[in-house]
This record gives sequence, C-alpha cells and structure tokens, in this order.
Amino acid sequence: MVTSPLDQPIAILGSGAAGLITAYTLINDGFSNVTILTKDKSPGGVWADERVYPGLTINNVYGEFRFSALPMPPPQIPATGRLSGQDMCSYMRIFADTFLKGNIRYAVEVKKIYRPGSDEDKIGWLFDVENLESGELEILHFSRVVLCTGGCHVPLIPSNLSAHPKEVNGHVFHSSKFRSQLDLLQSNGQDVKSLGQVVIIGGGKSAQDIASYLASREVQVTVVFERADAVLASPIPLPSFIRRSRFLSILAGHEHLDTRFERFLHTTRVGARLTHFVWNTITQISASIRRKSPLRNAHSLFWDIRTNDEGILRSENFHDLVNKERIELVSPARAKALGEDGRSVVLEDGRNLEADTLILATGYTSSWDIFDEKMSKELGLDRLASSSAVEDSRRHWDYTTLTNPPDIRANGSQTGQEWISPIYRGIVPAKNILNHDFAINGAVFTTNNGYSLEVISHWISSYFLRDPHLQLPKTVEEALESSKRNAAWIRKRHPSALSWVNPSYSSNLAFWTWPQAMDDLLRDMGLRTARSGGNWFTWPFKVIKIDEISTLGEERRRRWQI
Ligand SMILES: Cc1cc2nc3c(=O)[nH]c(=O)nc-3n(C[C@H](O)[C@H](O)[C@H](O)COP(=O)(O)OP(=O)(O)OC[C@H]3O[C@@H](n4cnc5c(N)ncnc54)[C@H](O)[C@@H]3O)c2cc1C
Ligand SMILES: NC(=O)c1ccc[n+]([C@@H]2O[C@H](COP(=O)([O-])OP(=O)(O)OC[C@H]3O[C@@H](n4cnc5c(N)ncnc54)[C@H](OP(=O)(O)O)[C@@H]3O)[C@@H](O)[C@H]2O)c1
Repeated sequence: MVTSPLDQPIAILGSGAAGLITAYTLINDGFSNVTILTKDKSPGGVWADERVYPGLTINNVYGEFRFSALPMPPPQIPATGRLSGQDMCSYMRIFADTFLKGNIRYAVEVKKIYRPGSDEDKIGWLFDVENLESGELEILHFSRVVLCTGGCHVPLIPSNLSAHPKEVNGHVFHSSKFRSQLDLLQSNGQDVKSLGQVVIIGGGKSAQDIASYLASREVQVTVVFERADAVLASPIPLPSFIRRSRFLSILAGHEHLDTRFERFLHTTRVGARLTHFVWNTITQISASIRRKSPLRNAHSLFWDIRTNDEGILRSENFHDLVNKERIELVSPARAKALGEDGRSVVLEDGRNLEADTLILATGYTSSWDIFDEKMSKELGLDRLASSSAVEDSRRHWDYTTLTNPPDIRANGSQTGQEWISPIYRGIVPAKNILNHDFAINGAVFTTNNGYSLEVISHWISSYFLRDPHLQLPKTVEEALESSKRNAAWIRKRHPSALSWVNPSYSSNLAFWTWPQAMDDLLRDMGLRTARSGGNWFTWPFKVIKIDEISTLGEERRRRWQI
C-alpha cells in the first residue's frame, strides 16, 4: 500500500536548536509521524540543562537565536546585551514543551544509520539504536532522515594529549566536561580552587570562557594557544541598524553580488579600501590589546570565522583578565604531549608547564561517524579530495577585497588543501539530491542560528514534499557542480577556515553573510527575498526581524495546497 509522504515516519536526529525547529516546521506542514531521537536527557543540544556551564553567555546579538513562533525573553543582565546559557536552556525547553510534546525520545543513542538490504521489504533508512537507560538495543525504520547532530557535539581530543585517567596524577578533561566536573566538585563539597594550577589548551571561546570563569574565582590559570579567536565588541552597544541589519553582511561579501552597492564595495579599489577600513576599525575598537600582548596572535575578523561576538566590552571578560594579569598566556605555542610525571604538559617548543588540572579546550570533531565508510561515500558526505581543488582552482572571483589573502599555512592550515563536502546548499548531499529522503540542518555555519535554521527547515520540508515550486538541480551532476563552486568560493573567501571547522558544521559557511545565503534559499522556494525592505539608500540598515519569516509555512502552503 502506498502511503502519503505526510504519514511516512521521519527521524530527526538531535534535539538541539536545529532538531527542534526542523520538527516544528515539518509537523506544522502536516507530517504526522515525526520523531526526534537524542542521546540527551533534555532538549537544547549545546544549551541542554546537563551541558550549560556557569559563565556561558551567547555569542550572538540578542534575537539571533530566536525562532519566529516563540518570543525570547530579554537578557537577565540587560547591561551585557547577551543571553546567558541558562536563558538559552529555558528558551529551548519552553519551545520543546510548547510545540513538541510527545515527539522527542530522550536518552537514545543512534549507533549506525544505513540503507535496508535489497532483500528487505523496506525503503528509506534503518537505525541501530541503544536505549541509554535500559541498555536495550533496537532497530528502527524511517522513510526520511534529517541529521541535526551539530558540529560541537563530539569532543576533539588530539591523540598525543589523550591519556587513560589512571596514567595521570592530576585531572585531564575536555572542555565539554567542564559542567559535569564542576557538578562533581560541588557534590564532593569542594570549590574550584581545589583544581590547583590549571592549564587550558586552546584559543577558542571554550578556552576563553573557562579561563575567565576560573580566574575570576582566584584560580591560577595559564592558557596555551597559537592563535586566539578574534573579538567583536564595542565600548557602548552599537545601534540595531548596524548590528541587526545587513550592514556587516554586505561588508563581508557574498558569492554573488546582487546590488550595485555590493559590487562597488567588493569589485572596485575605492570600495575595497572602504571595506577593509571598516573591518580594521571594528578590529581596533573591539579589544584593548596591549602592544606586546600575546592576544595579538589572533584570527582575522575579515578573513576568518573564528570570532567571539561579545557585544560590549565587559570588565572581567577574557581580555580584561589577561590585561589585569590574572590569566597567564603562553602563545604562540602548541601542546605536544602530556608530561611523564602525569602533572605537566609538554609544548612543541620543548617547554614544560606544570598542571594540577589540564583542560583540553581543543574543539570538536564531526558528529557524522554514525555512517560507515561505505554509506558515507554512497551518500556523499566525505570532503572532496584535493584533486578537485586543482580542477576548481580555475574558478575565481575578481573581488578587490580578496586580493591579499593571508598565508594559509601561517593561519593554521596543515596542508593548504582542505576542501568542503559536496552538500547542496549545505543541506542535501549532492549525490543524494534526487532521493528526497535525507537532509541536514545545522551544518551551515552562520551567526544567526534562529533565522537560518528556521529558513532551512522550510527548505527541507519543501524538499521532502517535492514541492514543485522548489528550484532544485535536475541531476546529480548539476548538484555536484553547484556544490563544488560553493566549495571553491569558501576557500577563496575564508582560506583557512576548512582546516579548523569540522565537516558537520561546514557544509556551507555563511557567517556574516547569512542574510544573502538565506535569500538564496527563499529564492529557491520561490518566496519573497530581502524581507527587511527599505529603499535604495536605507536597505543596508533595515533591521532584520525574525517575524519577517513567521509566515513562510502559510506562504508555501497557500501556493501549493499541502
Ligand atoms: C559550549 C558551546 C557554546 C556555543 N555557543 C554558541 C553561541 O553562543 N552562538 C553560536 O552561534 N554558536 C554557539 N555554539 C556552536 C553551536 O554548536 C551551534 O550554534 C548550535 O547551537 C548547534 O545547534 P545544533 O542543533 O546544530 O547542534 P547541537 O546543539 O550540538 O545538538 C546536537 C544534538 O544531536 C544529538 N546527537 C548527536 N549525535 C547523536 C547520536 N549519535 N545519537 C543521538 N543523539 C545524537 C545531541 O545529543 C544533541 O541533542 C556553541 C557551542 C558550544 C560547544
Ligand atoms: N557562546 C559561547 O560563549 C561559546 C562557548 C564555547 C564555544 N562556542 C563555540 O563553539 C565552537 C567550538 O569552540 P571551542 O572553543 O570549543 O573550540 P575551537 O573553536 O575549535 O577551538 C579549539 C582551540 O584549540 C586549539 N588547539 C587544538 N589543539 C591544540 C594544541 N595541541 N595546542 C594548542 N592549541 C590547540 C585550536 O587551535 P588550532 O586551530 O590552531 O589547532 C583552537 O584554538 C566555536 O564555534 C565557538 O564559537 C561558543
């Protein structure tokens, strides 16, 4: 018996922001059998109750993590202009409780996803699943899958820094365990000072957050990094027409330049000077960094995507505590190995740092290891080989703003050949485009997660429904070609980004340029673009509000009776 696509079972893997909004949109479109599967005990993913650590604040402008269906309460400490991790946690919980009751299966780990064998009377996907409470194993069948496993879920622990706990006298743990370690200390009646001398490896936001939290509680902290994340902050809050408009996205430059103003900024000499002047000015005002401070070893605000958007310059933040010499920096430096005494770390330059506690804030690896090699190849999740790089090096963009890229090797790339997975629009693996049974949400790197994840969820729903208004490549080759072009653009625009960001959140990099990338998706769906409006002069400064996409479902359904 042929069932309607709306009745066929859909699995959404992951209960982070991406999983929640995708389930919400599919259910609103009439899909009647939607299940979120998650390892976690509560919703929110990185914002889940069991994960949020004290001192964590959101790295985005207020409103950028909001979904259109649920207002977001203002920050509890208005002066910071930023929501706390706890604010985010309760927003995600309220969203799940309000809209997704009964749709989420908690504490189940998906071990493997694969296609049924040819002798099985099934199409779609099989999941090997472990119930984390009972230990029971089961096999589940779904017609469609949306992968929302996130790019910051599986800790990346460099092999030379991993050790069996018994081999070390002090503590060694990854930054993702910071919350559970604090809970453990508390349950033992200890405070953070019992961590002793702490060494943190890494220059990213996790390292900076943890260092600030500990240093402001009088713990001795040393941070080791080669380059730190850049910071975006200002002495006073910047007006919405700068921070919540298209202003920065236009200055960042998209793969295609649709307006005269963008073409002026990125393809003329005067425009390029102006563009770089603005980015340099933002860099200057964002952090008060002393002349010889190791904080000068930082990523570029323009060329890279490793930026902490702190909003306003705050006392007791990482930079402030470094300036006050309450956090010691060892940079440029890389950690090479754990010391033989089990209480120190050896750096690549031979130095040895004593550490009662070593925190590896060394980032995250791909969450897509639930596909075996064969399945991953068949689906097309693997990053393109460097031979494609040669083939694609012929493509170029004559942007005057991109004429002097930084040296890739000096900026962290190991080989200079890192390449992106051919995933169409960052949503559907190009190889699987004609099957309409697999999509990814959460792998487009953006600074406005709420808006982007919601638009992508509509695109996925249209794709699953084979909405005739959704413009798609007609062939796999066409999808591959488009994805390769995008890959080439990303290497041009952010030359070293792919050496760092793992495949499960780099299907597309639409960092500052998320408004243009979301317009591309709205255009695919045949929906109105540039929704913030404005005339020829005001459009770059019009505030982008989440409400402008609150009717996407109705607009799609009205046009094509779902
Ligand atoms: C501490 C921290 C703070 C961050 N703060 C910000 C920020 O302020 N701003 C920002 O833009 N980005 C931030 N990020 C990046 C963040 O990852 C994304 O912005 C976004 O929240 C990710 O949402 P997601 O739904 O894609 O993934 P996640 O929130 O990571 O959700 C992934 C979900 O998949 C589930 N899952 C994964 N694998 C399996 C499996 N095999 N079986 C079952 N379930 C599985 C997980 O349990 C989880 O529920 C932060 C990351 C970290 C680690
Ligand atoms: N809202 C928030 O406040 C918040 C908090 C935490 C995380 N986040 C986000 O989550 C994502 C992950 O952040 P993250 O900080 O966990 O990871 P990350 O950004 O990937 O940073 C990992 C850091 O570890 C360094 N590193 C790795 N191995 C090293 C070694 N052997 N020696 C010295 N340094 C080493 C890396 O440097 P190399 O690149 O040079 O190897 C990098 O600086 C980011 O997008 C971040 O913005 C946000």
